Amino acid sequence: MSEQLASSRRRVLVLGTGGTIAGRAAASGDNIGYVAGQVAVAELLAGLEAPAGVSLEAEQVAQVDSKDMEFSIWLALARRCAQALADPAVAGVVITHGTDTLEETAFFLHSVLASDKPVVLTCAMRPASALSPDGPQNVRDAVVVAASHGSRGVSVVCAGVVHTAADVQKVHTYRLDAFSSGDGGPIGFVEEGQVRVTGKWPEAGRGLDAAQQWPHDLDPPRVEILFSHAGARGALIDALLAERAQGASGAIRGLVLAATGNGTLHHEIEQAAARAQAAGVAVVRATRCSQGRILAKPGDAIPDAGALSPVKARVALMLELLGAPSL
Ligand code: SIN
Repeated sequence: MSEQLASSRRRVLVLGTGGTIAGRAAASGDNIGYVAGQVAVAELLAGLEAPAGVSLEAEQVAQVDSKDMEFSIWLALARRCAQALADPAVAGVVITHGTDTLEETAFFLHSVLASDKPVVLTCAMRPASALSPDGPQNVRDAVVVAASHGSRGVSVVCAGVVHTAADVQKVHTYRLDAFSSGDGGPIGFVEEGQVRVTGKWPEAGRGLDAAQQWPHDLDPPRVEILFSHAGARGALIDALLAERAQGASGAIRGLVLAATGNGTLHHEIEQAAARAQAAGVAVVRATRCSQGRILAKPGDAIPDAGALSPVKARVALMLELLGAPSL
């Protein structure tokens, strides 16, 4: 099924946050030795042909390598998206972002935004200075999705594939098609300016009214991720608990355990996790496997995050600790 673009003029707001898509290297043949977050989002749009009837507006929200993504930027993005989407003239929002934590930002926005309108994150695996950068096509495709009737919720567009925020995961370090939706499969594809939908658009986020009340400099609850692995020990958990017991500011409040297989933990981690729970820390298990979900068993002492990856489970737990509805 192809979805038609609106015939009347519609606005798409493009928010820049940095990443490789805005990266620059000294040599055009260098696809890895670049500095991310150098090119302004307005420059990324220069020369980009907007779909018929669509006007583009650029705004720089941040300019970072996404490995350094922070909660404060997520908050700024969520606020700006909510404000823009409330404007009847705005069809949707596109966010240019680094690939490395893109799935975390997408999941955060999916969790806190309530609008039915689309928010589309996009990225690039090659810097803007590359001989053949992938960014311009990805931005064009993302704009097509954002302006397309029928699209909704938070999605990710990369290499012509449209993913849901819930399922998307970066799975490759170098290939242009670096993302996968795993078992869930993608929502669809962008082909020559048309969206071909093969899956389902996500339900609109539940929205988080509380997020509107959060101060701009809100310090989110500290939630750490720890791996269970061969030879694992509980010493790191105990160190975090000792810090908490001293009443240190910013001490741990939540712990995501990246568990093996169907949510199992090394017995040393399991025992330390029980100590963490007894000390009042919220503990959740998320599977280390890139596909599948944890199937809960009767008597599980530690709740599981279902199909959420450890990084997304961390976002969900942070929001839960902030008083958001459980996701
Ligand atoms: C980043 O995530 O900002 C750098 C890497 C990338 O965008 O591919």
